[in-house]
Amino acid sequence: MARVFSGIQPSGELHTGNYLGAVKNWVDLQEKHECFFCIVDYHAITQDYDVEQLSSRTFDMAVSLLASGLDPEKCVLFVQSHVLEHTELAWVFMSVTPLGELERMTQFKDKSQRQESVLAGLLNYPVLQAADVLLYKAGVVPVGEDQVQHVELMREIARKWNSRYGRGFFPEPDALVGPARRILGLDGQAKMSKSLGNTIGILDEEDGIWQLLRPAVTDPARVRKTDPGDPEVCNLYSLHRQFSPPATVEEVARKCRSAGWGCLECKRVLADNIAAEFAPIRARAAELKSQPERVRDILEAGAERARVVARATMREVRERMGFLQTAAETTSTT
Ligand code: TRP
Repeated sequence: MARVFSGIQPSGELHTGNYLGAVKNWVDLQEKHECFFCIVDYHAITQDYDVEQLSSRTFDMAVSLLASGLDPEKCVLFVQSHVLEHTELAWVFMSVTPLGELERMTQFKDKSQRQESVLAGLLNYPVLQAADVLLYKAGVVPVGEDQVQHVELMREIARKWNSRYGRGFFPEPDALVGPARRILGLDGQAKMSKSLGNTIGILDEEDGIWQLLRPAVTDPARVRKTDPGDPEVCNLYSLHRQFSPPATVEEVARKCRSAGWGCLECKRVLADNIAAEFAPIRARAAELKSQPERVRDILEAGAERARVVARATMREVRERMGFLQTAAETTSTT
């Protein structure tokens, strides 16, 4: 399979939503493919953000990713702003991207609707995303459902650039939508998000997990304990599928349909299984946090590996587009 690239916002500690929706899949992919994973801090500034917290949230995201199993020996993990070529290629791509395509992006429409004054950076967000992936000539982009449209656009950007400057130079990447079914937040309403408080942080302690799960929304048909339920409409059943062993998943479905147990008993088992999966992650995260230098070194080594590829791509891009070479470029051997 082609090279893999994916990005995640520097939102601090990972939560169950992005853990299941993205990171678990990344951990599997690094075993068999050449993978680049990037903490996209330049994307984070396209909306209101806390300047004070950007660096700690970036660092904490790195800790979460490493603790979840990304292995710097098996993949390249780095911070977007540490590799300058991302923004350079984004600028280049802006010159082949039709404005109309950007204006029709669902995510842009959603986000811009909620703002009085819309920033150009928000509009151009998918152009930077295209640059992220194409800088490494990656062909596979593991993402959630909501990013498929952005991957479609990056294919178009690759096509447009290629047709003008060099056939076949950039591959047209494919989205790889993860195996995790769409899981809602614990409120049973919205997508999991930390700001909505409807999710579980991967570093939450056992008791905290239980406090969050206890009031979580289940099949509304189960008002009393004796009312039978339908696991297929229960959001917590989807979580069981992700965290519980197959025999338990089967038992959960059976006891739900037959009202063999109440939702609270079912949640108790789920809480234990989630806690069991997260416990070693929490331990690894604590260890990493106690050695911030090690995390920084890992990110620097990742950026260094990324830069080698990024520089090579940009050198060729500049050449194909007709830019005058710098003196250094003229003398150095390629
Ligand atoms: N936009 C993606 C998200 O919000 C994050 C992202 C940035 C990304 N650059 C990327 C994902 C490149 C895949 C590839 O989830």
